[in-house]
Amino acid sequence: MTAPRALVAGNWKMNGLKQAVYEITRLNELINVNGATCDVLICPPFTLIGHLNSLSAPNVAIGAQDCHMNMSGAHTGDISAEMLNELGCGYIIVGHSERRADHGESSETVNAKAVAAQNVGATAIICVGETIEQREAGEALDVVTTQLKASIPDSATTDNTIIAYEPVWAIGTGKVPTAADVAEVHLAVRNQLLDRFGAGGDAINILYGGSVKGSNAAELMSVANVNGALVGGASLKADDFFDIIAAFGHIG
Ligand code: PGA
Repeated sequence: MTAPRALVAGNWKMNGLKQAVYEITRLNELINVNGATCDVLICPPFTLIGHLNSLSAPNVAIGAQDCHMNMSGAHTGDISAEMLNELGCGYIIVGHSERRADHGESSETVNAKAVAAQNVGATAIICVGETIEQREAGEALDVVTTQLKASIPDSATTDNTIIAYEPVWAIGTGKVPTAADVAEVHLAVRNQLLDRFGAGGDAINILYGGSVKGSNAAELMSVANVNGALVGGASLKADDFFDIIAAFGHIG
């Protein structure tokens, strides 16, 4: 089974006003000029999705950071996968650790959100990762594989699912696990995908996320079973983000 192209995805979190249009046009231009050997995605806040998707920037896909598990109904303040689909989102992040922590989202909720994303034809980027206490207690693999098992729906396929391993303690901290630690977790994720989905599990992309930047991207992206990156802070500026894209493709 052939794996899809690797993906370098940016998660802008709660950052970005209309002037962020500049970053998308600049990123599109950098890719035009230098090329990219991976797919490139930016997930801005909901408020910018329609605006950014209306730009002519074909090198940069625009996705969402979350969706509700239902398609409509009495859920004040929530956004459904169907609404995101209408805005042209082909990717929806679900289960980011900030959603799990700030909104008490369980893996079962994340699973239902992934199904909602898949049901509108989007790819769900399902996030998992351990806290520092769990890593120090030697529980990282257990935590990640348990979260994964409950978070990935049976409907997962190569086309509609991507996994992102994001150690909570590495997010926004500048701390990065060793290549050996990343390799160990990504192998455990891969093995679970193979056990559960057979050969198809070999072709599901597994992203690494947590303090990825231009200076560490090449090393992280060369680790076995790392098929791309999920990037927070370093995705906000097109030039910084492009350094990661270039490192991934060993360009320049
Ligand atoms: P960071 O965030 O790159 O700022 O560490 C990663 C993420 O939360 O997806």
